[in-house]
Amino acid sequence: MQDLLTDIAAAAAANSDKGKVATYIPELAGIDPDQFGIAVATADGGLFTAGAAETPFSIQSVSKVFALALALGRVGDQIWRRVGREPSGLSFDSILLLERENGIPRNPFINAGALVTTDTYLSGSSPREALGELLRFIRAAADDEGIHMNEQVATSEFATGHRNFSLAHYLASHDNMRSDVDKVLGTYCHQCAVEMNCRQLALAGRFLVDTPGMPALVSIERRRRINALMMTCGHYDGSGDFAFRVGMPGKSGVGGGILVISPGRAAIAVWSPGLNRYGNSKLGTEAMELFAHRTGWSVFGVPHAGGAICHASS
Ligand code: DON
Repeated sequence: MQDLLTDIAAAAAANSDKGKVATYIPELAGIDPDQFGIAVATADGGLFTAGAAETPFSIQSVSKVFALALALGRVGDQIWRRVGREPSGLSFDSILLLERENGIPRNPFINAGALVTTDTYLSGSSPREALGELLRFIRAAADDEGIHMNEQVATSEFATGHRNFSLAHYLASHDNMRSDVDKVLGTYCHQCAVEMNCRQLALAGRFLVDTPGMPALVSIERRRRINALMMTCGHYDGSGDFAFRVGMPGKSGVGGGILVISPGRAAIAVWSPGLNRYGNSKLGTEAMELFAHRTGWSVFGVPHAGGAICHASS
């Protein structure tokens, strides 16, 4: 595993097309695209890293996975009355389907759907309490009290987040917002501004892997369902492409991070800030394609006899 990650980091460093950094959140616009990190936390307790695996980055939409877990914890299956479970086939910030579908977002990973999950775990609490709950969940999952939110990133997104404001008000017009819209947006921007490095994100992702000896933060059924949604919706209009190339559930963020789950085996975090045309990390996606090819890990079956298989602990 360590040799594989070293190879993957070297391939990323040698790739001259790093993709384009997101500029619509001013605080993210100045980040050097020439950075790459990867970490693998295995179900049997192994931890492997390569590249800039200790460099913190803004997890952005990867946070929607933790937000969904919290929202499910609050209201269970009732969440599905307010948000769907289908891919949208549109960009993460699109408003297009919301009008046609009466203010019910297609899934919890596009921005409109994530605003509903944020509204759900915020409901009945102050933004400070809700964000405290979110941080406690992430810290418990990663077993790391050093995980924080970057206030400057949150402020920067709140100041320029006209699209998310439009989405939230549109949801409110369809009676699909329970809390004050500004409070939901403030909470959402802070949620997206959680900072982690690849090592921390891989460790946090273990709550979606069957990890013996680790306290279960979500039930088996919820874990399977969150993984299913990551596979079908985790990369927006690039979800089919990611499933085809990588074959494992993943959730991306415009900060360039991707959390990938190999159920029963490992959580993998990869980060490179340059994005592809879908708004997902370009080098991160390519790295995961190489990782899946070299390990043979896929939820769609094992490689034929003689094919590459990499055991979690090797
Ligand atoms: O709401 C936004 O636009 C950002 N805070 C998060 C979007 C995002 O990460 C999309 N992912 N690739």
